[in-house]
Amino acid sequence: MAGIKNSESSRGGFSNKFGFIMAAAGSAVGLGNIWKFPFEVSDGGGGAFVVMYLLFCFMLCFPVMMAEIALGRKTNKNAVGAFAANGHKKWAGVGILAVLSGSLILSFYNVVAGWALGFAVEMFSGNFSVGSNFGEFVGNWHINLMVSTVFMFITIYIVAKGVSGGIEKASKILMPTLLFLIFGLMAYSLTQPGAIDGVKFYLIPDFSEITFKTAYGAMGQAFFSLSLGMGALITYGSYVGKKDNIVSATSMILLADVGIAFIAGLMMFAFIFSQGLQGQGGGAGLIFTVLPGAFESIGPVLGRCIGGLFFVLLSFAALTSTVSLLEVPVAYVVDEFEIRRSRAVWIVGAVIFLLGIPSMLGNGTVDFFTNFVHYHGSNITVNFMDFIEDLASDTFLPLGGFLVSVYTAYIWRGDKFKEEIESGNPGFATSFMGKYTIFALKYLAPFILGSITIITILSKFFGIHLID
Ligand code: PHE
Repeated sequence: MAGIKNSESSRGGFSNKFGFIMAAAGSAVGLGNIWKFPFEVSDGGGGAFVVMYLLFCFMLCFPVMMAEIALGRKTNKNAVGAFAANGHKKWAGVGILAVLSGSLILSFYNVVAGWALGFAVEMFSGNFSVGSNFGEFVGNWHINLMVSTVFMFITIYIVAKGVSGGIEKASKILMPTLLFLIFGLMAYSLTQPGAIDGVKFYLIPDFSEITFKTAYGAMGQAFFSLSLGMGALITYGSYVGKKDNIVSATSMILLADVGIAFIAGLMMFAFIFSQGLQGQGGGAGLIFTVLPGAFESIGPVLGRCIGGLFFVLLSFAALTSTVSLLEVPVAYVVDEFEIRRSRAVWIVGAVIFLLGIPSMLGNGTVDFFTNFVHYHGSNITVNFMDFIEDLASDTFLPLGGFLVSVYTAYIWRGDKFKEEIESGNPGFATSFMGKYTIFALKYLAPFILGSITIITILSKFFGIHLID
């Protein structure tokens, strides 16, 4: 099981395969599963969205994830350096896009993580009405500045400690705790009256709900949730040992992520329907507006504890993701500019924190950021945070996935890629999985990801709807 310890080198490394899986699953499992997934499902029409999401995860994201991890391990480099180290300097632009997407995502992610932290405090102190006053909470920049500063500090602190000391150690403790807590909450939610209707909405697909918007929403969600398309797994892959089995590691990461999103969704819809809160939309505020009321109904003391625990859990999950998001630009700066890790972390962390301030102020505090743009052909204004999310997660991530697939299949080439996977998994090249992976990277992923990216850009930003 144990991988080659490359922790003796100055770059550091995971101490074994388990550490890598925990860290990578920690990166994948985060706000994407517990905060974003439920409101995407709700906006995307329920079960039909879930089916599309699952298909994308298993059919497309799985091969792309293997490609990212393999490229990282082969080259022992960050997202930008990996392409050059593999002999294709011109492709380093893909890595730059990855560093940019990661930094943009972290900028708003840190703000939402701050909300989770703030809500943990509110729940423990019994302030359940914060749910119905969510607009006020996010519009209060004093509190937001405070909680997101705290969150960024913790992230920086962990990343500064390096790969095995900080990231791995934290993930090993936080991930199992998270799993334990979320299972308990799900079981509890299902005992609530009316929960069954939520379960039906969530699990029985109504295929008439499927539109192109559902498809790109599900695709963006799959990439976001699996931490794909932005070099996080190239970077983490660079710390993996040569004897480790990439296929089984990928399967475990994928199953952990999809499994937790699925359970979180079940819990959320059971709570939403049992509280009679369905059909109210909710967007980014969904879990924050719905859950405090649900916790309050549990009872004054127990509700505080369960509610507080839930948001602590959410903050934990977010932390292992912010750590991986910060690691991408930090590894790039450390490798390419030879700046000490301890210094690079602070500089990069500070820049990204500043980049997040407009997202923080765009929830009612400053009008310019609140009504930031309206896309061509639409008269609804989009705030700064949603704009960055549309750009980075729905557009750049599938684009990054497209480029990684094309790179792996046509530039690096299938047989070389398979050779890398064979190390730690002999027999892969001739297995069904090996053949499917190459097929997916060569044809399926470029076609689907390429067309979704182009159609998304046209329809989302320019109001040109090639298909509905
Ligand atoms: N996957 C993380 C989540 O679901 C977010 C993330 C995206 C982390 C991209 C790293 C890279 O919350």
